[in-house]
Amino acid sequence: MVGEKIKFPKRTIRKVPLEGMTVLLRADYNVPLKSDGTIHDDFRIRASLPTVRRLLRDGCKVVIISHLGRPDGRDPKLSLEPAAQRLAELLKEPVRFVDQTIGPKVKMAIKRAPRRSVIVLENLRFHSEEEANDEGFARALATDSGARYFIQDGFGVVHRDHASTAAITLYLPSVAGLLLETEYVSIIGAMKHPKRPLVAIMGGAKVSDKIQVVDELVDKADTLLVGGAMANTFLAARGINVGSSKYEKDQTETVSAIYQAATVKAGSKLEDFIVLPSDAVVAPSVDQPQLHRAVAINDVNDSDMILDIGPKTTKEFVKTIEGAGTVIWNGTLGYAELAVFAQGSAAVAEAMAGRSDLESIIGGGDTADFAIHWDKKKGDSFSHVSTGGGASLELMANGTLPGIEHLLDA
Ligand code: 3PG
Repeated sequence: MVGEKIKFPKRTIRKVPLEGMTVLLRADYNVPLKSDGTIHDDFRIRASLPTVRRLLRDGCKVVIISHLGRPDGRDPKLSLEPAAQRLAELLKEPVRFVDQTIGPKVKMAIKRAPRRSVIVLENLRFHSEEEANDEGFARALATDSGARYFIQDGFGVVHRDHASTAAITLYLPSVAGLLLETEYVSIIGAMKHPKRPLVAIMGGAKVSDKIQVVDELVDKADTLLVGGAMANTFLAARGINVGSSKYEKDQTETVSAIYQAATVKAGSKLEDFIVLPSDAVVAPSVDQPQLHRAVAINDVNDSDMILDIGPKTTKEFVKTIEGAGTVIWNGTLGYAELAVFAQGSAAVAEAMAGRSDLESIIGGGDTADFAIHWDKKKGDSFSHVSTGGGASLELMANGTLPGIEHLLDA
């Protein structure tokens, strides 16, 4: 685990006597599904295993709750049954699935389950009360499960104020699971006590989604490498023609505020502090990848769409990573869904994975998705791959999250 210098401020399952108890475990099994409804990627389910295994070792009856997607009422396509099945395969233990979240059927199923067993309840968001942070719903979750403790381990959702992240803590003594602790310690450790130099790689689609994190990184990082559509917004704001590329036209002021803050910090070394692409891979559109070519950034034509960082930029980014002590990577550097436009992201992943002495933190969402699929070791080549998308960004920006704050102090 990176960030060993950081102490997790909340009580964890390691610090409470849970032997033989029924516990309510909030996981984030909001996993991507294929069109046939099967699980596309079980990263988040795998990430919950250390906590589930530890609770089983303590002889607990583990009642797992989660959301999946954003249903409007009950929707069989968003049932948690496939997640329960995958959990059973990964645990190599039976997992009971109950097609209700609260109520008599839940009570009965949990009562009948033996000690040292796992029960997964149906999607929390089939009840609108979940997102409304409804206290009655939270109370029903607590009482119907018969749990003695609530364990928060759904890192991906602790930036939300929902019944299963906030109100539930009014009804049960609430502590953190091992994933939540690892996420916090790794992310906050890299932000607050990084092994220097700290290099931040920012990409993805929007500056507007990541503005607070960028501000924070301007303050904390030694170098900021910018790629993806985010770089287009930076380039356009600085008067460079980005052709028909995707970028945010209304973010010029945001970019100039970032540059103002960066100038205060870096002075005349500004161009070495915020590094924008010096070349790019372009094509007329994503649908014509065969027409891709590399061009210097000042030679982008009106009909060109920037779809990846170019070879010169890639080399520069790799060299910077080779000299880094810590790298925080958030956002892919091109249209990484297509291999031809994923060269920059792949080179960065390779440079990070190739250095065992590097503290490498991969932000969640698309970046984690890319890194896990790129990596033969499913993400284990990096110090930490976050399971949280919005949650990891907000944790980097704010230093804590509401669903963490509600837990008992250490
Ligand atoms: C996520 O995937 O980011 C979390 O599971 C939270 O889901 P939400 O954005 O639908 O609240």
